[in-house]
Amino acid sequence: MLSIKYSEKRKAKSVKVALKEEKINYFTGSELVVGVGKKSELTQRKRVLIARQVIALAKQYRIKSLNVNADDFGLTGEQLVTNLEMANYEYNDHKTAPPEGWSYVEEINLSAATAGIERGQIIGEEVNKCRSLANMPPGLMTPTVLAKKAKEAAKGTKVNVKILDHDDMKILKMEAILGVAQGSSEEPKFIIMEYRGSDRSTAPVVLVGKGVTFDSGGLNIKPSDHIYEMHMDMSGGAAVIHAIAAAAKLGVKRNIIGLIPAVENMPSGSSYHPGDVLKTMSGQTIEVLNTDAEGRVILADALTYAEQYKPQLVVDVATLTGAAQVALGQQASAIFSKDEKILKQVQELGEQSGDYVWPLPLWDEYEQEIKGTFGDWANIGKKRGSGGAIDGAIFLYQFAKKYPWLHIDMAPRMTANDSEYLAKGAAGAPVRLLIKLLEQL
Ligand code: BES
Ligand code: MN
Ligand code: ZN
Repeated sequence: MLSIKYSEKRKAKSVKVALKEEKINYFTGSELVVGVGKKSELTQRKRVLIARQVIALAKQYRIKSLNVNADDFGLTGEQLVTNLEMANYEYNDHKTAPPEGWSYVEEINLSAATAGIERGQIIGEEVNKCRSLANMPPGLMTPTVLAKKAKEAAKGTKVNVKILDHDDMKILKMEAILGVAQGSSEEPKFIIMEYRGSDRSTAPVVLVGKGVTFDSGGLNIKPSDHIYEMHMDMSGGAAVIHAIAAAAKLGVKRNIIGLIPAVENMPSGSSYHPGDVLKTMSGQTIEVLNTDAEGRVILADALTYAEQYKPQLVVDVATLTGAAQVALGQQASAIFSKDEKILKQVQELGEQSGDYVWPLPLWDEYEQEIKGTFGDWANIGKKRGSGGAIDGAIFLYQFAKKYPWLHIDMAPRMTANDSEYLAKGAAGAPVRLLIKLLEQL
């Protein structure tokens, strides 16, 4: 984490940051000049990137201490600091440091508008911790480890964490989660996080996160070029863990529940098969037509488990479909809901937070795509190769009819793209959006 100090006086040994209207960036030895183009044409989206670019350039020049005039950026203190923290992050846990050491900015002396610094640091830090969980190699990140990480994230906060194991899930009849998990030698876990920021009688918001710690595809094994980043298939779960940790640290006055079904999807002699019919906790059955559409299968049981909380809203977050990325590219997560008002509000909060989202339809017409032949619902659509993100969403909806519900398919935002001045690897979406949602719903 950065050491951020408020001081009107500039420290002599620190490098001054200057945003100028020219197009080039350079470092004079005492001043870091960042070319931002016409200042009158800056939007909030661009301002966020400029904040990150300052850190990226400072790291490149191995500058350790910066003097920054917060007013120059046109962002709130919270936005500014969150993005500085995000830009200063890299996942180096398993890499030998170069002789001169890693290049991180250590200290920022901020002058001018400083409200929100502490909030910005809490949020930035939880986003980065989420990225570290998602970046962990699959040999290290198992369902058991994810459960342990949820407990660690909750340490020192008012969040309680409970872990259900295989036998607990058997008693609860979560045969969908157990079905996906049965091909792996790693035991599945069901992670439950509970935070009470309001009195017991107020309905909670339930966040559900997909926790597939490695998605090989199972018996429908993925081709080589699609399997590479599948250790990040628990990114939704990681986002839920750290959004709740942040909410607790920020003292959000709301009751919040986190549910994360954690499994590994592997091919083996004990795997679930294409053709299997799984009985979910809801009583509805799933006809498995493709073992690689595993996220929706485990989420079905988690969405049913959520009913007992009589929630005000359930939000699931999942790297659910490659099709969402085909539709939107890498700039926005896809959102789905039957409630137009929620969609509008979440889009607005997406802009504010920097976790951009865009809606796709959830019309009844799509339901016919997933009608099963030998089970109630097929886990893939009939029209293969089109509308896959919607098929996934309409499938989940069959298990989420008892409360207001929002689905975030974050597959497009799983990894950072070259345009956003973040380190390679997990992007930490949509932690910032979830925090805003929990605060402002
Ligand atoms: N985890 C994947 C989706 C994914 C792909 C996330 C790329 C991030 C990047 C998911 O479990 C999956 O395999 N989905 C299939 C669904 C298909 C079998 C209907 C897909 O998208 O190909
Ligand atoms: Mn899959
Ligand atoms: Zn998956």
